Amino acid sequence: MIKLAHIDKTYNPNTVNETKLFTDFNLEVKDNEFVSIIGSNGSGKTTLLNMICGSIPIDNGEILINGESINKLSEFRRYKRIGRVYQNPAMGTCANMTILENMSLADNKGKIFDLKWGTNKKRIKFYKEQLAQLNLGLEDKLGVKVGLLSGGQRQAMALLMSTMTPIDILILDEHTAALDPKTAEIIMALTDKIVREKNLTTIMVTHNLMYALEYGSRLIMMHEGNAIMDIEGDEKRSVVVDDILDIFNRISIERGN
Ligand SMILES: Nc1ncnc2c1ncn2[C@@H]1O[C@H](COP(=O)(O)OP(=O)(O)O)[C@@H](O)[C@H]1O
Ligand SMILES: [Mg+2]
Repeated sequence: MIKLAHIDKTYNPNTVNETKLFTDFNLEVKDNEFVSIIGSNGSGKTTLLNMICGSIPIDNGEILINGESINKLSEFRRYKRIGRVYQNPAMGTCANMTILENMSLADNKGKIFDLKWGTNKKRIKFYKEQLAQLNLGLEDKLGVKVGLLSGGQRQAMALLMSTMTPIDILILDEHTAALDPKTAEIIMALTDKIVREKNLTTIMVTHNLMYALEYGSRLIMMHEGNAIMDIEGDEKRSVVVDDILDIFNRISIERGN
């Protein structure tokens, strides 16, 4: 279980740019839960993911995984059990390295750099099997530089690479937003397959309301650092896109914009 307890987070404190984002924020995500998070720009979705991954520090509170505080654990150490895919496919792959080199890099995640990596031919069969699951023919292009692939192909690889080593938690930050609708569908279906096969606890931020409703066991709407909606099970299944749009509209009317 991931637990955020009594989290405070203010950006640029005591300056004209001060943004008090989270105040006594609490959230629990159970093992194997797939949480979709929606919310307007600036509502704190990426910050929430960054706090869990240790990419940014928290001001107060505690983040626990399976009851143990990870406050003092570096971002590098946290990524041993966390996979993360970003909006930009370029973030999760290395453009000027080949498919094989990228797979090897992902395979060795969390290990200290070792010259033997590049020559580990025994793993090639495994990489080919992994790539074949994508149905993109990448297993026959191991020598091709990843920078030459399409955005969708790169994002498929990023997803594969982030989930190749044993992890417990998958963090997705609008990972389909930069893709055309058809490719986004393929990446979402692949995400769902990997999450199920590997029993991952998943937190997915998305702007796509249809994906937020279709995928995941729980739906959270963020607004100004608060979870203003948090539903699961039958309640989640009964919600339609128009219901969500109504809430968005109400929020913007209340804010007067
Ligand atoms: N590194 C940062 N420095 C200062 N302010 C930031 C930083 N990251 C985010 N913010 C501010 O915090 C708020 C929430 O941002 P973010 O978590 O990125 O929201 P979302 O992902 O929901 O769009 C925004 O007002 C944003 O400007
Ligand atoms: Mg964001």
